[in-house]
This record gives sequence, C-alpha cells and structure tokens, in this order.
Amino acid sequence: MEANKSKITVKNVSRTFYSPQGEKINALQDVNFEIDDVYSPQGKDIGEFRVLLGPSGCGKSTLLRMIAGLEHPDSGEVLVNGNLVRDPGKDRGMVFQKYTSFPWLTVADNIAYGMRINGVPKEKRDPVVSQLVEAVGLKGFENSYPDSLSGGMQQRVAIARTLAVRPALILMDEPFGALDAQTRSEMQQLLLQVWEETASTILFVTHDVEEAVYLADRIFIMSAHPGTIVEDVEVPFARPRDLALKERNDFHELQSYVLGRLKRAPGSGGHVRVSI
Ligand SMILES: Nc1ncnc2c1ncn2[C@@H]1O[C@H](COP(=O)(O)OP(=O)(O)OP(=O)(O)O)[C@@H](O)[C@H]1O
Ligand SMILES: [Mg+2]
Repeated sequence: MEANKSKITVKNVSRTFYSPQGEKINALQDVNFEIDDVYSPQGKDIGEFRVLLGPSGCGKSTLLRMIAGLEHPDSGEVLVNGNLVRDPGKDRGMVFQKYTSFPWLTVADNIAYGMRINGVPKEKRDPVVSQLVEAVGLKGFENSYPDSLSGGMQQRVAIARTLAVRPALILMDEPFGALDAQTRSEMQQLLLQVWEETASTILFVTHDVEEAVYLADRIFIMSAHPGTIVEDVEVPFARPRDLALKERNDFHELQSYVLGRLKRAPGSGGHVRVSI
C-alpha cells in the first residue's frame, strides 16, 4: 500500500476576474496546498475531512470549482490523484449550496441517477438506494419529488445522490448555508455519520467558524483580496464526534483562536459568521 499519496495538489494557482465595470479582481493568488490520502495503521484508506474557511469573496468557490474541473486557473495547476484536472470526473462528487436535485425525478431516482448513467444495473442500484435513504433519514419519502420536501430534506437527497457513486473525493460548497440553525446542526451530525462509513476525502467550504471546527480534521483559513490561504489549523478532537462537543471549553477555545486568525486576515471584515 502506498502511504500518503497526494489526493489533491494545488500548485501556485492564481485566477483573476474582471467586474462588469472592468475592475480587476484577484480572486486567488499563489494558492498552494496538498491533501494526502490518509491510511489507518491497518492500511485502510480512511480519507480526511478538510475545511476551507474564509470570508465572502475570498475565492473558496472558485478554488473548489477548479478541483471539480468546472473552472480553470490562469496560472498554476490542480492535480487530483496525480492527474491534471481538466474536466469534471466520476472520481469527484460535488454538493452545492443550492439544492441541485432533479425536480422531475423522485427521491429514489435522484439518488440512483449517477449509478444509472454509469451503467450500474437496477438490481445493484436498488440496495444502495435503500441503504442511503435509510442513512440520510428519508425512509418513507422514496417516491416524493424534491419540490415537496423541506430544504434540509432536499439537501439530504443531494448528499445521498453524491455518496451513491462512492466518489473518492467529495467537494461541498456551503451545503448547509441556506438551512436554519437546528437543521444545520442535525445535518452536520448526519454528514459525519455517513462520512465515517465511507472512505472519501471531503473538502468542505464554509464561512461558519463553529461548523468548521466541528467537522474538520484540518482547517485552511483563507483571506480575501487577494484570495490566499493564511493558516492550516489542526483540529485535534477525537472521532466519532457528537453535538455535545460544541459545549466543551476546548472546543470554544479553538473556535476563538480560529476566529482571531480570521479577523487578522486581510479582507475578512464583517463577513465572518460565528454561531456560538
Ligand atoms: N465569473 C466571475 N466573474 C467575475 N467575478 C467573479 C466570478 N467568479 C468569482 N468572481 C469574484 O471572485 C471573487 C471570489 O469569488 P468566490 O465566489 O470564489 O468567493 P467565495 O469565497 O466563494 O465567496 P462566498 O463566501 O460569498 O461564496 C469574488 O470577488 C467574486 O466576485
Ligand atoms: Mg462561494
């Protein structure tokens, strides 16, 4: 087994946009990082939960979209499993902030969609769908259409749909940003549960400090204008984690530290959300 193989490599990546008024925006400037594949002492691929945390406009979505192959750098390169990213691929799943299920398909058909287009036969799809429906708490809603569900339930469909094709890498762009605080907490807990059963590496974007500290193994703190990574913070809390962790003093201490780093980061004024 090859240990510590690079899962994602981002090398000297820069990207400039121009506003409609012609103003130059340094969305990302010289961003560098590497995320390795993680193996347990028994040699099992266990993945890692990384969070990209930063204020609005610091380039989080742009960076994630580049790793997904939906956007390209002006200079520098992005590699996944050692291969240069050019287009989207089956090895990467993406969950967006807006619920992106197909409205004309039922919950079960949405979850099965990726497997169906990959040519997985129905008898193999059905048990995976049942298991995921159960895992994300949608039992009884298999034949409902997304529009008839709440925002939290629709996001569960999107997560199940992404997990169904078992991508080695899952990219999540503020997937809980539109949810109320209670549902958001429940979804964080659910995501950790389903993630612990998969071997996926997750790269999760948020601007919520509490969410970052609760979910991550490591947090990349970003600053804006130009968008860049200012610190890589290790989150030492043991897994499995549950919501009681958020009440602990050491959790609050780390949250304050991360918030302090964000406040000192240029371009972070006013846009950082803390939910204590
Ligand atoms: N297609 C585009 N055209 C012009 N400017 C863009 C485009 N995409 C992104 N930008 C600009 O690049 C910067 C980074 O945008 P990006 O969406 O990556 O930030 P973000 O960190 O995801 O912000 P948010 O937290 O608000 O989602 C912003 O200033 C944004 O306005
Ligand atoms: Mg964004």
